[in-house]
Amino acid sequence: MSEKEESDQNKHSKVEKPSGEGEKVSPPKPKRPRTIRTRQSNKPKSSETNSLSKEKTKGAAFEIEPSTSFIRGLKGKRPIVGLTAYDTILGAAVSSSNVDFILVGDSLGTTLLGYDTTIPVTMEDMLRHTAAVRRANPQCLLVADLPFGEASLSFDRLLESARKLMQLGGADAVKIEGGRDVADDIEKLVATGIPVLGHIGLLPQTVKAIGGYRKFGETKEEAESIYTDAITLEEAGCFAIIAEMVDETVAAELTRQILPPLIGIGCGDGCDGQILVTTDLLGWSHGPVPKFVKSYANLNKVVADALGKYVRDVRLGNFKK
Ligand code: KIV
Repeated sequence: MSEKEESDQNKHSKVEKPSGEGEKVSPPKPKRPRTIRTRQSNKPKSSETNSLSKEKTKGAAFEIEPSTSFIRGLKGKRPIVGLTAYDTILGAAVSSSNVDFILVGDSLGTTLLGYDTTIPVTMEDMLRHTAAVRRANPQCLLVADLPFGEASLSFDRLLESARKLMQLGGADAVKIEGGRDVADDIEKLVATGIPVLGHIGLLPQTVKAIGGYRKFGETKEEAESIYTDAITLEEAGCFAIIAEMVDETVAAELTRQILPPLIGIGCGDGCDGQILVTTDLLGWSHGPVPKFVKSYANLNKVVADALGKYVRDVRLGNFKK
């Protein structure tokens, strides 16, 4: 069988992963039966998109619109692409690359602020950095992360924090880590008009509880648990869901089974789209980057060379232009 035939066949087969002693993982089934609800359409309504700004890419003709209905409607049409940004200069660069959405991730804690994890990142940090990216005037959807703890205190606190990220930070939507544990609150947020991007699989905010960063969904139990999380977030009304470090086969199967787009990071290429931490792909980092990151530049080297040259020029009296 050719590679293409094999991959086409895989696309239509159910998840069957060996687990333990030769046991096969059957297609993941939701632990909680799907409730009967009126499903949101994947297609943007024309009334939702008419007033939205449109930008044609220079070169490739991919339209983008800063709306969650636009992102939802991309499922099955073309891959969705997201990147992180943390300040005005990076926000402007990322926006010019014509991504579909920008995430002001709490990864700013590890990429910019020198923390080992995202746990120390506060609402004040998120507001400052979200507002800085908004000042870059991005043409795409701007999503801001709810930092550690904000989704677990009370619904009122969560609502207040999400509201601040939108009203004071200028975010169009918020991202919340977690699955069925946070689904009820997400459903209430969505009902108040706050669009929510879900996040399942590896949840960096739980790194202390799970004892490190690792792949998720390699056992039958975990695959089923991730499936339940995804279905529950779909029912709660997430416009899209990020899956982080989920087993590739499980992520590809989930992509086929849920209505909102599944956007992968470290999940292979079977999802509806990809997101990466921008500084990781640019090679502009202080510490190690995850193994799944595809490198597109080595800014650490470019910057080190330029700064070294400046220092030498000044010391050797060659500074004058
Ligand atoms: O904080 C972040 O940047 C994220 C991405 C890794 C998805 O959550």
